[in-house]
Formats: sequence, structure tokens, C-alpha cells
Amino acid sequence: MKICMIGTGYVGLVSGVCFADLGNDVTCIDKDLKKIDKLKNGKIPIYEPGLQELVVKNHKVGRLKFSTNLKESVRKSDIIFICVGTPTKKNSSAADLTQVYNVAKEISNSISKFKIIITKSTVPVTTGDEIESILSKKKQKKLFAVVSNPEFLREGDAIRDFTYPDRIIIGTNDKRANKTLRNLYSPLISKGAKYINTSRRAAELIKYASNAFLATKITFINEIANLCEKININVEDISIGMGFDKRIGSRFLRAGPAYGGSCFPKDTKAITATGDKFKINLSLIKTVIKSNENRSHLLLKRVYEILNGQIKNKKICFLGVTFKANTDDMRDSSSLIMIPSLIKKGAKIKYYDPTGLKNDFLKYRNIEYSKDIKSALLNSDLVIIHTEWNDFKSINFKNLIKKSNFKIFDMRNIYSASKMKKANIKYFGVGI
Ligand SMILES: NC(=O)c1ccc[n+]([C@@H]2O[C@H](COP(=O)([O-])OP(=O)(O)OC[C@H]3O[C@@H](n4cnc5c(N)ncnc54)[C@H](O)[C@@H]3O)[C@@H](O)[C@H]2O)c1
Repeated sequence: MKICMIGTGYVGLVSGVCFADLGNDVTCIDKDLKKIDKLKNGKIPIYEPGLQELVVKNHKVGRLKFSTNLKESVRKSDIIFICVGTPTKKNSSAADLTQVYNVAKEISNSISKFKIIITKSTVPVTTGDEIESILSKKKQKKLFAVVSNPEFLREGDAIRDFTYPDRIIIGTNDKRANKTLRNLYSPLISKGAKYINTSRRAAELIKYASNAFLATKITFINEIANLCEKININVEDISIGMGFDKRIGSRFLRAGPAYGGSCFPKDTKAITATGDKFKINLSLIKTVIKSNENRSHLLLKRVYEILNGQIKNKKICFLGVTFKANTDDMRDSSSLIMIPSLIKKGAKIKYYDPTGLKNDFLKYRNIEYSKDIKSALLNSDLVIIHTEWNDFKSINFKNLIKKSNFKIFDMRNIYSASKMKKANIKYFGVGI
């Protein structure tokens, strides 16, 4: 099939490449010329395991193209996916749909035969209705079907998640579009993915409800971890004990820093804004948002306690600063709250991240990027394990820090507290 992906970010690029790998003819469009040039030269603008190989392979055989020419690509394609950003509006909790509606307007100028136009971007309920009305201003309704097909991939596991999804949600009552999309996804359906055809509005809400539920699960175990810390229980035991209950499940039930990333923070806010719009108070999700926003401050308080309130001139090393492992995404990472706050209190920060230096910290003094774990750790008073990269899982801290009395605050509980105690290392975890 001839597919056009509009927006070549985490979602557009990964799904575009995967569709090409399934044998389709895909053009990935972006308005960012530099990004497109890089991709044409086999350079990947984001960190995503396995992506480079797939891009190069499919580009080479001509199934995957990159372009900034939206008009031409839309004209040549049968299926058009909108994958642009839907960030939070300034001074509001609602999603900013400017990018989506701009794309809809651009598409409306280029339709001359039947096209399936699909939102893969996460968009609030009734956005599909709005896109339809934008298109109808220029074209007859019989020339297009507007479908919602939310994406559930996770950064860091994006290719696997796209290739082996639990479910594929298709929101449309257009029979022709549904048939074409079932065909498009048939290689994934035959590998066990559940194909669910529902209404467009339901598809839009399924995505937000899913993300809000997962964010709630993380926040729930984070609050239980706070309780565990006071009563000498290891929260890991609670996660294991709860997780084996099939009604609960073990995933997204690990205590850690505040949830971050490009989805949960903005999507939890956006669904409460939708609730408010329809005069429904989604009070549980509002509480989750507050609890999560408070979490970074709680963990900072813990850092002060660990350092006995003496932050000034303390050498603090962060291992990992992105919002989770296996991604370079800094959006809404809790390190963006914790590091500036520690700098303000006089700490000297060094950090190492497998995905490299982060521009977000360039504006601060007293923070230094280290090019490897060894130089980051040297002479630290406190090591904060902020993300759970495999690279951080078997470090010989004593050998590398070369200083006595250092402390470790493992925000991901990747080390065993009892082993650390035996090794005479002052170790602190989350919820233990
Ligand atoms: N990142 C994830 O893990 C993830 C997972 C599921 C769903 N989503 C959703 O998918 C959407 C995209 O997320 P992302 O993380 O890929 O965003 P992103 O910021 O990485 O990429 C969006 C891209 O769209 C491009 N763009 C914007 N306007 C354009 C236009 N008019 N023409 C062409 N290109 C344009 C931007 O230049 C950018 O490269 C969001 O709604 C997000 O919530 C993201």
C-alpha cells in the first residue's frame, strides 16, 4: 500500500519504518528539513534501539522515502497518517491541536481521489470530527474517511511494540477504510494482535484512558513506596505480591521517580481538560497528576535527608537523566526538576547518560557532562541512579568512586539493599 506519514518523530518514524518493513511503500514527511536530510543520509535523529538498521535497510530497497513535500506525498498515497505533536497548551491542561489542524488544512488542498486520513497522534475526543469538518470545507465527503488509530508503542521498545502490539484500535464506521486497514495490519494480526474496530470517538478516548490508567498504576505504587519507607518494608515485595494477581498484573507496578516522558504527563492533563469541557470532574486523574508533580519534591527531600541537609559543595553524580532507560527523550523527565534544584542549593553535579550530553542543562553552572560512567563517578559524595539502563546494573562503585563514605540513592531499586549492606556501602532505595 502507498502510505504517507506526516510528522517524522518517535511515532511517525518508527511506525513508518515498520510499515515499510512489512512491504509497503512509505514516505515519511516532516517540515524539519534538517531531520529529513539526516534521514536521507542514513542518520537517525532519535535514539531508539534497532531503528537505524531498519531505516537503512528499507531506504536502500526504496520502500522508505523521506521528504518535506507534504502535498506531493499526500497526492501519491492512499493512506495518510497524522503523527505530529499534541503538546499541552500554554496556561491550560488541554492538548494543543494546532499542528494537527494545520496538517488537516494542508491535506485538504491535496485530495483528488479517495484517501484514508488517520490520526496516530494522541488527540482528544471529537478531534476526528473537527478534522472531518476542516476537510469538508474544501472537498466532498466521499473523497475521504477520517479514522482514529492511536499508537501504543513505548520509546525504547518501540519496534517490538509496533510489531507485536497487544491490540490495534481502529476507530471508524467507514467499511472501506476498515477493510483497507485490516489488510494493512494483517501481518500483525496473524502474529496474534487483536484488531478492534470501534467508533472514532471511542478510539480517541481508549488512548487517553489507557495512559491515564497506567499513570495511575505507577503513582499508586509510588505512594505505597512512601508508606513502605516508614514501616521498614521493601516495596519490591509488595510489587511482587500484588503483581502475580492476574487482575492487577506486574507491569507498571515498580516504584521509582515521578513518571515523565512525552505522553503520560500531557495525556493525563488533557483527559482532565476533556472531562472539564464536558462538565465531568475526573477527580482521580487530577489527584494522580498532583501526586506525581509532588513526587520529584519528595525524592529531593529524601536526597537532603541522605546528605544530612548538607548539599553545598556536595559532589552528586546522576546516572541517567532521560525520563527512562533506552531513550534519549528528556521531555518531562524528573531530572529536569531535581538537578536545577540541587544546583540551586549549591551541589556540584556530574552526569552520565548513554544517549549523550543534554542541551537542557547547558544554561546551568556547576553541572558537567561526563563521557563515561567511570569519570562521572570519580570522587562522588552521592550517586543517584535515575534510570535503569543495563549499563548501570553491575558497577563496582568502590573501585570507581575512589573515596570513602560515598552514598548511593538508587531511584530504580536495581541493586540489592542487603548485598550493598554486606559490602558496607551506604545504600538507599525507593520504598525500602
Ligand atoms: N513518543 C511516544 O512514545 C508516543 C507514543 C504514542 C503516541 N504518541 C503520540 O504521537 C504524537 C507524536 O509524538 P512524537 O513523540 O512522535 O512527537 P515528535 O515531536 O517526536 O514528532 C512530531 C514531528 O512532527 C513534525 N511536524 C509538526 N508539524 C508538522 C507539519 N505541519 N508537517 C510535517 N511535519 C510536522 C515535527 O517537526 C516533529 O518532527 C503525539 O500526539 C504523541 O502524544 C507518542
